[in-house]
Amino acid sequence: MPQAPGAAMTAQKKLYIKTYGCQMNVYDSERMAEALGAEGYVPTDRAEEADMILLNTCHIREKASEKVYSELGRLRPLKDAKPDLKVGIAGCVAQAEGTEIMARAPVVDLVVGPQSYHRLPAMERAVRGGARAVDTDFPEEDKFTELKARPKAKRGPTAFLTVQEGCDKFCAFCVVPYTRGAEVSRPADRIEAETRGLVEQGVREITLLGQNVNAWHGMEGGLGALVRRLARIEGLARIRYTTSHPNDMDDALIAAHGEEAKLMPYLHLPVQSGSDRILKAMNRKHGRDAYLALVERIRAARPDILLTSDFIVGFPGETESDFEDTLDLVRQVRYGASFSFKYSPRPGTPAAERGAQVPAEVMDERLQRLQALITELQREAQEAMVGREVEVLFEKPGRLPGQMVGKSGQLHAVHADAPESLRGEVRRVRITASGPNSLAGTLAA
Ligand code: SAH
Ligand code: SF4
Ligand code: F3S
Repeated sequence: MPQAPGAAMTAQKKLYIKTYGCQMNVYDSERMAEALGAEGYVPTDRAEEADMILLNTCHIREKASEKVYSELGRLRPLKDAKPDLKVGIAGCVAQAEGTEIMARAPVVDLVVGPQSYHRLPAMERAVRGGARAVDTDFPEEDKFTELKARPKAKRGPTAFLTVQEGCDKFCAFCVVPYTRGAEVSRPADRIEAETRGLVEQGVREITLLGQNVNAWHGMEGGLGALVRRLARIEGLARIRYTTSHPNDMDDALIAAHGEEAKLMPYLHLPVQSGSDRILKAMNRKHGRDAYLALVERIRAARPDILLTSDFIVGFPGETESDFEDTLDLVRQVRYGASFSFKYSPRPGTPAAERGAQVPAEVMDERLQRLQALITELQREAQEAMVGREVEVLFEKPGRLPGQMVGKSGQLHAVHADAPESLRGEVRRVRITASGPNSLAGTLAA
């Protein structure tokens, strides 16, 4: 990363960031590194040589949260060996449990919630002066507006760009509305300016991010209109967005899938369960039939779109019959891939207080059955690509010499014999074989 003017005056310090959780954390970690870059920090991928370690954490399931505490245990000897080392917790665990962490873990110098990253440079200075600092406010000001403009840097062909934050949906199982706050949309002008900047630095594909990205309403026409606006940027080849809530899939966005060539034929549209009873208990605010009807409308607009979803098994009160409704929905939609999780009761969420928690062994068994079905459908979706020609954006060299890897429009990883000069280029590839997690092909003439 290039240094800000004046940074050379101070001794160079090293920053190590470990990122957990969703893509929004990945984007936030980049922005935090840039903010601290202006304070003279350069990134390192070795915790042992760092002057500051930031854990950008995730609170979504119990396992994700626990990782923070075990990581803090591992960091203690580093701090003993290097008393000047500063340790910070960012992200959703910081928001949810920051004050307790500060009280319980003396190794932690700094706790910063996801909406306060623009205050990180000032917090860093306080911490260097020997203080301990906590900021888990939901400030009025938008962190991205407050953060300095992104520095020029050489970038890869793909980038994330957060356009929306927070969630007003309050699904009964989920901590996100509490850790990320209410739904906020970044202004369209800023998003366009940032996209243009990224494209100038070599980015060909952007993924617009939000906890509920299709609830973005920074301009008339919503996300569909934003996609069309960004599609006019010369040099930008591809646009994706994630994650979408079914209730925010409006007509304009569906139409954009049919009409905007730069919008890729891929959609992550989590449904969580196929049972009306469970969807209601989850407070998802839509039923099974409405979801299936939505899928039909999306496929009518863009027949080759690849759909994926998230599922929770063992939500409190889920019966075998509810679970079979989920399997049935998965078969009906024929998802190209999906994530599935065992329900994890999260402190402060309504579902965690309910009786009828499903026994662990029942959850295990259901998860296995669901994952087997998801894998089978994924294999079928991949095998259906064999013999077809797809467009691939090449991203990096493959494992074998002379090979490059990229993504198809449907987000399949594709390997092909290709020169490294094709990095960042879109080429037609004829798919010749399907492996467990990727496709192989040859450059089309
Ligand atoms: N905003 C997105 C998803 C955010 S969290 C949406 O509405 O779909 C990512 C996924 O984690 C969710 O889709 C859900 O499947 C899973 N998840 C969230 N809370 C969970 C919990 N308490 N236990 C298990 N899985 C959970
Ligand atoms: Fe969580 Fe539901 Fe909001 Fe998604 S829509 S972030 S699952 S509360
Ligand atoms: Fe995790 Fe927070 Fe993302 S809880 S999934 S890091 S929004």
